Amino acid sequence: MKKNIVLIGFMGVGKGSIARELIKMSEYIAIDTDDLIESMENLTIQKIFSQNGEEYFRKLEKKVAIWLESSIDNTLISTGGGFYKQENIKNIGIIVLLDSPFDKIINRIKAHPNALKKLKKRPLLKDLEKAKELYKQRRPEYLKVADIVIDVTDKSAIECSKELLKKVEEHA
Ligand code: S3P
Repeated sequence: MKKNIVLIGFMGVGKGSIARELIKMSEYIAIDTDDLIESMENLTIQKIFSQNGEEYFRKLEKKVAIWLESSIDNTLISTGGGFYKQENIKNIGIIVLLDSPFDKIINRIKAHPNALKKLKKRPLLKDLEKAKELYKQRRPEYLKVADIVIDVTDKSAIECSKELLKKVEEHA
């Protein structure tokens, strides 16, 4: 059984911030599926979507998912919001869903000093109505795939990270 922690959840829910906090308070090394894809292609996610389309991006996610399963252990893996769909995800590690209502997620992004950049770099957040539909469709699927759920609403990254480490330990 692999000892990776795989963070899943909707865009902007705080996977990156929580991963950065977690590595400070644990021995984990962190990797991020979007970062891996950007360096594989030497392009930003935004450019990959605009030049090659979403389907191509999903193929890259699949490649990363296969590599994670075959080659990575004892690692904290943060993922893009659609990565949970990879069919081998449960073989990669323990799946932790960071959960929050859609409106809270959007408010969290908007409150950030780099809000515009954060919205711009996410092609699927361009149209908030469509993003809300995507959220509604995905949320039950996220819950289905998750081993652990952390409600991150109105909590700091430190609080969420502490709760996560405790729950992971209990789950083992
Ligand atoms: C996506 C989420 C993004 C990125 C890509 C697609 C999605 O990652 O992988 O834009 O399908 O939800 P974040 O969740 O880190 O924004």
